[in-house]
Amino acid sequence: MNTLIDTYGRVHRNLRVSLTDRCNLRCTYCMPHDFAAWLPSEHQLTTDELVRVIEIAVSEGINEVRLTGGEPLLRPDIVEIVSRIKAITNAPILTMTTNALTLEKVAQPLVDAGLTRINISLDTLDRDRFKLMTHRDRIDDVFAGIKAAQAAGINPIKINAVLLKGVNADEAPALLEWALANNLALRFIEQMPLDAGGIWERSALVTADDIYADLSTRYQLTPCDDRGSSPAEEFFVNGGPATVGIIGSVTRPFCGACDRLRLTSDGQLRSCLFSLEEMDLRTAMRNGASDEDIAARFRKTVAGKLPGHGINDPKFIQPQRPMSAIGG
Ligand code: 5AD
Ligand code: SF4
Repeated sequence: MNTLIDTYGRVHRNLRVSLTDRCNLRCTYCMPHDFAAWLPSEHQLTTDELVRVIEIAVSEGINEVRLTGGEPLLRPDIVEIVSRIKAITNAPILTMTTNALTLEKVAQPLVDAGLTRINISLDTLDRDRFKLMTHRDRIDDVFAGIKAAQAAGINPIKINAVLLKGVNADEAPALLEWALANNLALRFIEQMPLDAGGIWERSALVTADDIYADLSTRYQLTPCDDRGSSPAEEFFVNGGPATVGIIGSVTRPFCGACDRLRLTSDGQLRSCLFSLEEMDLRTAMRNGASDEDIAARFRKTVAGKLPGHGINDPKFIQPQRPMSAIGG
């Protein structure tokens, strides 16, 4: 069994695959509402190319693949993509991060194709705030998508929420109450400097400590055991079994346990969300590279991985690509 191990001893088992950089929302912390710098569509990996890369990644030691975007459900052949990945020898655990806008119709076909877990992004329960935060009046579609995912038996369904000062920062307890009532696993994520507009500011950050303190006014939180390579610190709520996660991406970096690699929708391999370098798999494949050549590119990318994201370093440089083009 091959392993992708870096110079700091971290074994890489998790590959995040962005299926498209397009999205049907415009979350303010991700894209400006008039964003237009889309990747050229001819650069998007075809489904054959995607499946090939994933197959090679699996043979190198990847055992979990997360499909992401942009919005992965915008890919018209998403169900076929899922079933083709599940048909790979030693098929990886397959998960997806979606905004759920179009999940209602496709939840059951995705489950039938082999998808078992899903993360859904939802930052607020309030229609007006949702509109303000995403520039689209579609919160009901998200709720319908969540219901459909539950009806299709997807388990667990995790909800990712980002809190912004002056917008939804007061909503942590309400989100948790709703998640508990609906049997959903909620995780809060600190806002990272990955927006296309470059508007991130540390002073506006709602920190993991803020979220913990706010939740603690209504709930008793006790830490769960070792989080392994998971970025979320998990807490039992009122003694459990329900839990809530807080991902302190900025104030509590978890890079030391990172096991993730990322493939952009235009076929660039990245060792970190914040990498300033990429490995071009698309051009290599289109120029006839062998499987061994692509595998060597995975090993080289892992070998060059830095110890941490450096957000807290005074010399930190935000990557050129926004989150929507890297894959969350
Ligand atoms: N900081 C933190 N989380 C982000 N997401 C998108 N942009 C950012 C950011 N700048 C989240 C989305 C989604 C997941 C893919 O990442 O809300 O849940
Ligand atoms: Fe779309 Fe996700 Fe970016 Fe929101 S955060 S605009 S849902 S890609």
